[in-house]
Amino acid sequence: MKIAVFAGDGIGPEVTAEAVRVLEALDLPGLELTEGDVGGAAYKKHGHPLPEATLDIARQSDAILFGAVGDFDCDHLERHLRPEQAILGLRKAMGFFANLRPAKVFAGLEDASALRPEVASAIDLLIVRELNGDVYFGEKGIRKLDDGRRQGWDMMSYAEDEVRRIAHVGFKAAQSRAKAGESGKLCSVDKANVLETSQLWRDVMIEVSAEYPDVELSHMYVDNAAMQLVRNPGQFDTIVTGNLFGDILSDQASMCVGSIGLLASASLAEGTCGLYEPIHGSAPDIAGKDLANPMATILSAAMLLRHSLGMEAQAARIEAAVGKALTDGIRGGDLGGSMGTRAIGDAILERL
Ligand code: IPM
Ligand code: MG
Repeated sequence: MKIAVFAGDGIGPEVTAEAVRVLEALDLPGLELTEGDVGGAAYKKHGHPLPEATLDIARQSDAILFGAVGDFDCDHLERHLRPEQAILGLRKAMGFFANLRPAKVFAGLEDASALRPEVASAIDLLIVRELNGDVYFGEKGIRKLDDGRRQGWDMMSYAEDEVRRIAHVGFKAAQSRAKAGESGKLCSVDKANVLETSQLWRDVMIEVSAEYPDVELSHMYVDNAAMQLVRNPGQFDTIVTGNLFGDILSDQASMCVGSIGLLASASLAEGTCGLYEPIHGSAPDIAGKDLANPMATILSAAMLLRHSLGMEAQAARIEAAVGKALTDGIRGGDLGGSMGTRAIGDAILERL
């Protein structure tokens, strides 16, 4: 079991270290961890945010545990050298096209949500975000118009096969989340009232739905979805959406849950290799101060065991330990508490 560990920038190394401690505590036979440089840290050392050596480690691994990338020192660099290119490049090079971002309120945390507790407690949803296409990977640039004005432009597009493969992931996820005897629920989020890209997205979703008669497909415009996530998040089960809308809605969902320090994610390709990372960023303002909540990264390690290594029982063990820590009142600064990164890691290890 070869696991690549790419800690990255800011709080990345601190939160990743705690997730590694948890993985090591499980005493898994044959576990082999290999570290690699990504992001601003890699740029400073090797002149590139995603060095070839790091890509090689990724290609030879069964799964990747990823911290975070982003560094203000690098803001002046050309876009292809910025830290974010490490995660975008890995997603593309490794074919990680399906991003799973579950959001669920942990027992005892209903008060931490930005929403009223009775609204927040109903949240149990999964955002399935497409990761390899959309305006993220379209042609882009800043050009001079004839009259001398500068114009920024980014091309948004989805080919039908790109939509079809994420549709299947969405429908299958909805199927597997359905309670026995009930149909699955999949809400496709788009902006088909304005965008042609979204019209094609919607057409393909409807086409693919014929293969999943046990899943109820609905459609929602992204602006309405953002509103409904705050008004009544309990109405959602599985959401499938494009790269940009999924990026925005998943940050929003995290605050509905209570903290962005709690949300894990999996990025999957066609095979079993996957990349696992907290959905939060590198938070340079609190980096190196033992202030970050490592729970999202630890929960990402649980997803790694589940999706890439087929170790459901061990994954559930980690999730139970985090859940127990939270019900016992273990809180970092993000949740109004004062416990540091290492102490939260200790508390979870103890419960494990
Ligand atoms: C995320 C992040 C990334 C994204 C950034 C760091 C490029 O916000 O994983 O949600 O936009 O996809
Ligand atoms: Mg994001």
